[in-house]
Amino acid sequence: MHFGMLDATQDDLRPVFRNTEGPGYWMFTDYETILDGLQHPDLWSSSVIVPSDPNPPYKWIPIMIDPPEHAKWRHVLAEYFSPGLVKSLRDEQHHLAGELIEELVPEGSCDFVTQLARVFPSIVFTRLMGMPEDQLDQFLVWEDKILHTLGSGDEVNAIRLDGMMAVMGYFSGLIEQRRANPDPDAHDIVSNAIKWEIDGEPINDTDLLNCLLLLFMAGLDTVASQLSYAMLHLATHPADRARIVADPSIIPKAVEELLRAYPIVQTARKATQDMDFHGCPVKAGDMASFPMAAAGRDENMYPDARKVDFDRGVTRHLSFGGGPHRCLGSHLARQEMAVVLEEWHRRIPEYELAEEPTEHGGQVWGLNSLKLRWER
Ligand code: HEM
Repeated sequence: MHFGMLDATQDDLRPVFRNTEGPGYWMFTDYETILDGLQHPDLWSSSVIVPSDPNPPYKWIPIMIDPPEHAKWRHVLAEYFSPGLVKSLRDEQHHLAGELIEELVPEGSCDFVTQLARVFPSIVFTRLMGMPEDQLDQFLVWEDKILHTLGSGDEVNAIRLDGMMAVMGYFSGLIEQRRANPDPDAHDIVSNAIKWEIDGEPINDTDLLNCLLLLFMAGLDTVASQLSYAMLHLATHPADRARIVADPSIIPKAVEELLRAYPIVQTARKATQDMDFHGCPVKAGDMASFPMAAAGRDENMYPDARKVDFDRGVTRHLSFGGGPHRCLGSHLARQEMAVVLEEWHRRIPEYELAEEPTEHGGQVWGLNSLKLRWER
């Protein structure tokens, strides 16, 4: 498992080592150093966030924008991800998750990744964005190209770029349609995006597409991956599962602990200057990886860090990042996870692994499939 491999690296190499993938980069391996890096965009720019690709021909917004410009984008986007708005979607999400799981119950088995984890958050997201649900399969193919094409080098970068161009081309068409037929009552993000302004000026189309692209990547894949690891844990830890079944009110606490123990997003930054950073001799322009997985599972930070303990209490984990770029979708993600765990365990309290799952790495770690079975 990727988490186990990173644990072993962390135990051997603290707080930093040199990773030789692609052109090479630093990799920080403890909570304190990772948090410090994320909180200092003046030292570590997020203009690049893929460690093996130091000069990318793309700019995802807002993640690849540094302060002070960055705050203006957060201001524009905040209302679509506020706690209040997310809460208003909860009943609809329960209904949707219930329907999807109800279909699976009589089957007695499923691939949790393809049949639920990738479907539910994607439908929620397309509704929020105002994208047609019937094109979901195509969206997921593009998503895979961008985030799940592994390795480094020109060929791999070309495939990723191809996926990004397809998504931006798609949004460009959608924006044209909304401009031609504006609906003043529409609440979805794309319908509103055509009116967004920064510093009193309309946002140019390139920046708008770069922002919709980032939302697309963040919205389709992350919750799916996080949910898959959560369910893998619960399928293989019956005592934790039994607690959720017996008392669903602990689900929000369980979600938080599962987020801490299985951080799926591994990010990176580019050094803005020569410096000694926690003993590491950094040169301006160096890339460094800041893996949230190392932060969340750091034994120096949390006792028994690699063990899931629903009674752990508040952990200030970094699974949603830290500093100015902390995840904008964290309320939505938490709610989606809680909704699925609640609706699933109400209907399918007992289940087990039908097959050993396989994983993918990259920027967002995830499972390729998670075959579960239960008594019909
Ligand atoms: C469990 C699911 C999720 C996890 C673990 C997660 C994790 C993260 C992390 C670690 C970052 C910071 C990356 C960095 O600093 O380089 C981030 C940023 C972001 N996330 Fe999430 N995320 C999740 C779900 C979502 C969802 C559903 C959305 C909604 C579309 C979203 C939108 C964003 C955006 C827009 C940013 C960039 C924020 C900025 O640059 O200011 N995320 N996320």
